[in-house]
Amino acid sequence: MNKILVIHGPNLNLLGQREQSVYGKTTLEEINNLLTKIAQENNVSLEIFQSNHEGEIVDKIGKVKLSNIQAILINPAAYTHTSIAIRDAVAAVDIPTVEVHLSNIYAREDFRHTSVIAPVCKGQISGFGVNSYILGLNATIQLLK
Ligand code: DQA
Repeated sequence: MNKILVIHGPNLNLLGQREQSVYGKTTLEEINNLLTKIAQENNVSLEIFQSNHEGEIVDKIGKVKLSNIQAILINPAAYTHTSIAIRDAVAAVDIPTVEVHLSNIYAREDFRHTSVIAPVCKGQISGFGVNSYILGLNATIQLLK
């Protein structure tokens, strides 16, 4: 069975309480439950990881081969715009990676318009709220077929 690593970056543990007008009311647990259901329907397994720490995310990505993971779905959150370390980790492991964002990062502040991670991903989905994750997981599953 294929295994997909789902990574949620910093502050996404606060979804549901955090800036609801931007990120909506759905909690991270509810998003994870939706993703788990889609994974089950498609016969893939998920490993779900949230961290507020850049190095922990880098370490997790670096271990994908050891963990028998074939693809990554990532919302790098604020690290999207800053983390060369996460970008380099994605490039290093060289497995299909899909970037997602709840909000449309291109419709927000200028500093959110650049993703340093997107160039090493297969693609990016941004601006559809919780549906960004659903679309992103379906895209990741398709990449494994
Ligand atoms: C985000 C967008 C980022 O700019 C922001 O720092 C986040 C969440 C999103 O999902 O819309 O924390 O990745």
